[in-house]
Amino acid sequence: MTYLLALDQGTSSTRSIVFDVAGNIVALAQKEITQIYPELGWVEHDPMEIWATQLATARDAIAKAGLDASDIRAIGITNQRETTLVWNRKTGKPVYNAIVWQDRRAEPTCAALRENGMDRSILAKTGLRVDAYFSGTKLKWILDHVPEAREQARRGELAFGTVDSWLIWQLTKGQKHSTDVSNASRTMLFNVHDNQWDDELLQALDIEPALMPQVLPSAAEFGAVHAELLGHAIPICGVAGDQQSALFGQACFSAGMAKNTYGTGCFMLMHTGTKFQTSQNGLVTTSAAQTGTQTEFAMEGSVFVGGAVVQWLRDGLNAVKKSSEIEELARTVPDSGGVMLVPAFTGLGAPYWTPEARGTITGLTRGSTMAHIARAALESIAYQSAALLQAMSRDAVAAGSEPLAELRVDGGACVNDLLMQFQADLLGIPVLRPTMVETTALGAAYLAGLTSGVYKNKEQLSTLWQVERSFTPELARADAQALMEQWEHAVRQTCLPRS
Ligand code: G3P
Repeated sequence: MTYLLALDQGTSSTRSIVFDVAGNIVALAQKEITQIYPELGWVEHDPMEIWATQLATARDAIAKAGLDASDIRAIGITNQRETTLVWNRKTGKPVYNAIVWQDRRAEPTCAALRENGMDRSILAKTGLRVDAYFSGTKLKWILDHVPEAREQARRGELAFGTVDSWLIWQLTKGQKHSTDVSNASRTMLFNVHDNQWDDELLQALDIEPALMPQVLPSAAEFGAVHAELLGHAIPICGVAGDQQSALFGQACFSAGMAKNTYGTGCFMLMHTGTKFQTSQNGLVTTSAAQTGTQTEFAMEGSVFVGGAVVQWLRDGLNAVKKSSEIEELARTVPDSGGVMLVPAFTGLGAPYWTPEARGTITGLTRGSTMAHIARAALESIAYQSAALLQAMSRDAVAAGSEPLAELRVDGGACVNDLLMQFQADLLGIPVLRPTMVETTALGAAYLAGLTSGVYKNKEQLSTLWQVERSFTPELARADAQALMEQWEHAVRQTCLPRS
């Protein structure tokens, strides 16, 4: 039997999953990651904890599967994106904590870039809007604030990487310093047209080119794991940022195919083929996982608070004891009774991009109950995703393509039938839930399997994708439209007047 090991380093936990060639899970190990909040708006992770949990879960997963490391044909890595690390090449020690993608400390640098009119060339070269979300300005912050970091960088003593690079460095005991195009495309330093670090952008942020990792396609040979670590020199044959990996795991390989991942946030990506297309509707353009040198792109929209709204109901409002009780509570009412909840706790991401927005509940009446609020909270996940999909469809039509015909879903909250049905009702297109919803890890395993010859081509992978349940729209389009209008009205209430 042939097996593939996916290392999935996410924001809240680190996981390792052993897959068989049919894409079934053989064993899974998982460990939580400590969230560090040193100041308001700052989020950090301990790089050594990231590495220790990855190694421990990889060992656990192989042991749980009852396998020897030599039974694993190849490793695929997928990771939280944009999170920024810098370490010393000689000692392997990080010079600072990992600055997590959610961290907002680099906003002043972004404001300066916008003021200097850099936003247009950044969009043209990288596909991204200038935002503290991406790695480049976080890297600049480390170089500016860690004593001697810039001098050390000039002497070529330091290495920069996103989480994938850090793991590759550790797994190969410092032999390889590399990343893949999908992760590189989230740094705001990478020219996605020629797949190269961009000299002008590096210069604009005062970043030494010597810091940067080598960039490879997502399906490529990234080196072998040092034999001492797992007991065998397993080759690392696939790397992709988690959202592009999920797009790949959903077998969305061609233009017009889209997926939405329902996690803490929601990430919707639509493949646009080999065409670089920028959005007129608040989305960003990103490199899709690439299996060769041919560039491939996706349009992406991110919702900052998706499933996290359920945690807020549980921990903030004490509305339920367990997250799983939310669906039950929401089902006790037929609808939200006109209540709209916009969970703009940290501002709104795509397609609104209003960092100053704050959470709002509208439409309360004397008859509103916690059940209506719970229902509105669940529905907010679907409304935000529907706004993304509408933006994507508008972009697709403007580019001469068809609007989206179906949406593939994955991530923790996609098991919620009430939410998925409501999503289909709002969208007016089928929502397809596959049998395997661990598509992020699966995508990395597929990439590794392609490079190592386990799979022949993407067509073969497409045949492995199977639908478990299709949610078809049941609501009249005019009613769905009216609901979306109520939602947009509630969104407009989220921006408080400046004091
Ligand atoms: O862009 C951030 C994204 O990659 C984080 O994903 O699943 O770790 O929350 P996740």
